[in-house]
Amino acid sequence: MREFSRPREAQLVLARVELNALVKQVIDLTRARWHDLPEQRGIVIDVKAELCPDLPAIQGAESEIRDALTNLVFNAVDAMPEGGTLTCRTGAVCRGAGGNGMAPTDTCIRVHDTGVGMDEENPPPVR
Ligand SMILES: Nc1ncnc2c1ncn2[C@@H]1O[C@H](COP(=O)(O)OP(=O)(O)OP(=O)(O)O)[C@@H](O)[C@H]1O
Ligand SMILES: [Mg+2]
Repeated sequence: MREFSRPREAQLVLARVELNALVKQVIDLTRARWHDLPEQRGIVIDVKAELCPDLPAIQGAESEIRDALTNLVFNAVDAMPEGGTLTCRTGAVCRGAGGNGMAPTDTCIRVHDTGVGMDEENPPPVR
């Protein structure tokens, strides 16, 4: 169904992606959902970007990462109907043996919210 309703580009274009810039862009692009709409209902969602300095650029499909990040932000907002804090954090990590002192090999983006949460025992309600 997903392939049918949201067809991917025939060929993914991998290019240099600056994740810190992408995070800032997604926060800007989603402002209506985390600021304007909640504000109309008297709700405040604080958004924080904790961006790792000197984060190495990655090779990736920028539009795919942007879409994924946007969905995580929407999910986080949906999970905070009474307001809260949404934090987007980037990091650089060393993978494999002897990580200390080695140049970072991986980057990560975390999207954290202070909302209702979920775990295996308490799956989300079916809407
Ligand atoms: N940050 C979160 N906190 C709590 N529950 C979450 C969070 N993210 C997702 N969920 C739960 O997982 C469900 C599935 O999320 P998913 O993004 O796949 O679909 P959706 O948000 O319901 O619909 P869509 O993304 O198509 O609008 C959500 O409906 C919600 O119940
Ligand atoms: Mg969703």
